[in-house]
Amino acid sequence: MNAHADAGTGAPPAPVFLRALWYFAALSSSLRPGDLRRQMLLGEPVLLGRMRNGEAFALRDVCPHRGVPLSAGRVMVENTVECAYHGWRFRRDGVCALIPSLVEGQDIDPSKIRVRSYPLREQDGLIWIYFPTDERSAAAPRSEPPRVGVPNAKPRWVESQTFHCGIDDAVIGLMDPAHAPYVHGRWWWKKKPRLKQKAYAPLPTGFVMTRHQPSKPAYKLLGGDVTTEITFELPSLRFEKIAGTVLGRHIDVVGFTACTPIDELTTEVTQVFYWPAWLSFLKPFFSILGPIFLADDRKMAELQREGLKFNPSLLLIQDSDVPAMWYHRLKKAWSESLSSGTPFTNPIQPRTLKWRS
Ligand code: FES
Ligand SMILES: [Fe+2]
Repeated sequence: MNAHADAGTGAPPAPVFLRALWYFAALSSSLRPGDLRRQMLLGEPVLLGRMRNGEAFALRDVCPHRGVPLSAGRVMVENTVECAYHGWRFRRDGVCALIPSLVEGQDIDPSKIRVRSYPLREQDGLIWIYFPTDERSAAAPRSEPPRVGVPNAKPRWVESQTFHCGIDDAVIGLMDPAHAPYVHGRWWWKKKPRLKQKAYAPLPTGFVMTRHQPSKPAYKLLGGDVTTEITFELPSLRFEKIAGTVLGRHIDVVGFTACTPIDELTTEVTQVFYWPAWLSFLKPFFSILGPIFLADDRKMAELQREGLKFNPSLLLIQDSDVPAMWYHRLKKAWSESLSSGTPFTNPIQPRTLKWRS
């Protein structure tokens, strides 16, 4: 048995939340024009909102005047947010547009006052927020958020659950190849554990289980020649890209899973599926099984927390815990590249993993 070997190097531990990355924050459909919502993300209070003109935005949910959450205010017709306390107004870039109490001769320039704004992207029905290394700097993001990669990507099915565990345990739980027969095993689903062998390759900030024919019977819904590949990239983003043939037509189905940290001990796990509109017969299947399987993972993460409270040393073994080791190595390499200012190099090499599940 090979235990996880990264411990004891003397290097400082990776920070809890990686910066200079895009985090999935919300579904586009959850924000209508005029909406304001306070959301904790990475331990920070974030105001997510949508202006009257349809533009989504993210600001620090703390009024720079006297600290009232801006989410308690309202969206104005001229596309600003008005604070509930003294009516200061802010644009989506965070710059103050109006201080109503000022009278002539009081020469405060509102445009010199700003609340922190977060870079935001809206694509494929998803809202992404970038957390820069230096919160005060307005430097452009070093990358763009990932695309779903199918034309007119529209979320067809969504499930979101709050896991009472940190992001690392949520991520590792979802990428763990050996837990399925135990955590998700049911008389109508359970299969006898079988030998699995899958090829992996590095990606720019993660790794991919390369395209293969999946063995789970559920995939048969998407035709006999179905194949899938599963990617993981920092900070916590998993895409499963399934290709098949239904009624003689090629189809792409994409499953997206994101673990978004609310704070150190709470993680929102969201699953979104994309498929062509005419494949709507898939929806009941997902609506019944999706919440059950995600709840299985959530309950196990919460049970695990009962043990982790006592700070036990853990054993990560070959090969079934290798994805977990890779996740730790990626995190460490990313945070070292940020703190040293050197380019990030992916520590993962192509490899075939074998396990029984
Ligand atoms: S606290 Fe926001 S305007 Fe005064
Ligand atoms: Fe699971």
